[in-house]
Amino acid sequence: MPAIGASSKRSRAGIAVVNSLANLAAFAASDSRQAPFIGREEELSRLHRAWDGACGGRCELIWIAGEPGIGKTRMVEQFVGSLSDVVCARGHCVEHYGTGEPYLPVLEALAALCRFDSSVSGLLRAVAPSWLLQLPWLSSAEERDVRGGEAPRVGVDQMLLEMGEFLDRYTQARPLLLVTEDLHWSDRLTIQLIDYITRRRGSTRLMWLASFRPADVIVLDHPLNRVRHELRLNGMCKEVLLDAFSEIEVANYVGEHLPSLASDEGFIRALHERTDGLPLFVASLMSEVVARAARNADEPPQLADVAVQTKCNRHHRTLHC
Ligand SMILES: Nc1ncnc2c1ncn2[C@@H]1O[C@H](COP(=O)(O)OP(=O)(O)O)[C@@H](O)[C@H]1O
Ligand SMILES: [Mg+2]
Repeated sequence: MPAIGASSKRSRAGIAVVNSLANLAAFAASDSRQAPFIGREEELSRLHRAWDGACGGRCELIWIAGEPGIGKTRMVEQFVGSLSDVVCARGHCVEHYGTGEPYLPVLEALAALCRFDSSVSGLLRAVAPSWLLQLPWLSSAEERDVRGGEAPRVGVDQMLLEMGEFLDRYTQARPLLLVTEDLHWSDRLTIQLIDYITRRRGSTRLMWLASFRPADVIVLDHPLNRVRHELRLNGMCKEVLLDAFSEIEVANYVGEHLPSLASDEGFIRALHERTDGLPLFVASLMSEVVARAARNADEPPQLADVAVQTKCNRHHRTLHC
């Protein structure tokens, strides 16, 4: 399963991007290193239906929405890991102060795609040269010299057109899964690009999975909010909204990590109550409980012994158990 991801760091207002990750092996392997995946069967089957649609010649935009720690990234990884023979390019947004870099998650994904498939830079050169020039290490000295070493000033419409053409042509040979995470931090142009690609009448075999935190986009009045509502009204996107774990899912989680406690209803209820079923908190508390159980093999672990402080961005909750 070829899957690609990237994380990056920018060094100037133009586009110096240092890619630090995610080669195929690392990303593909991440799934097997993870703890067992719990629940989300319906959500996963919706993603699979969308992927089938993309393979069949549709452009599918799927929002994955949920609060921090609810499992958006885990869901994406589970989904990608369940596909065989998929080309997946990933990028993510980072929290910033002031205006974010234009197209950061898309450039990150594109850079990863170029590393994975050496034909991509040639295709970019042919049909999307403005995008290629945003990835300076992929353009020749000659190409850069023509521009005086500076990132070109290209109109936004041109960038949109070129990306549409690139995606049409690239996906003629195979469908593409494009993942952009944490779009509540994205720049405006990335949202405009998603809107454009989703609305155009191309033949792109693309599934675009985009995650975000709904509360943040509402509070910040992020452009994503308007675009998402308009696309939804037009039936041009789907949304997978992730809920907290139910008590049964918490019990399943416990069963996977400490089977001796899986049938302890009091423990399960207390864990569910104290974490609100938020997977991040469930995982955090359970790893503490498992560690204690390993230290005191003779005594069954008590949730009451564990106090975990969890800080999750805007949400700041202390779990005194
Ligand atoms: N369905 C799940 N099954 C098992 N663990 C999960 C699941 N969803 C989330 N987790 C765990 O919860 C934690 C937070 O999940 P993450 O995907 O990082 O949340 P988000 O991306 O929404 O902030 C991680 O440790 C992750 O492994
Ligand atoms: Mg995440």
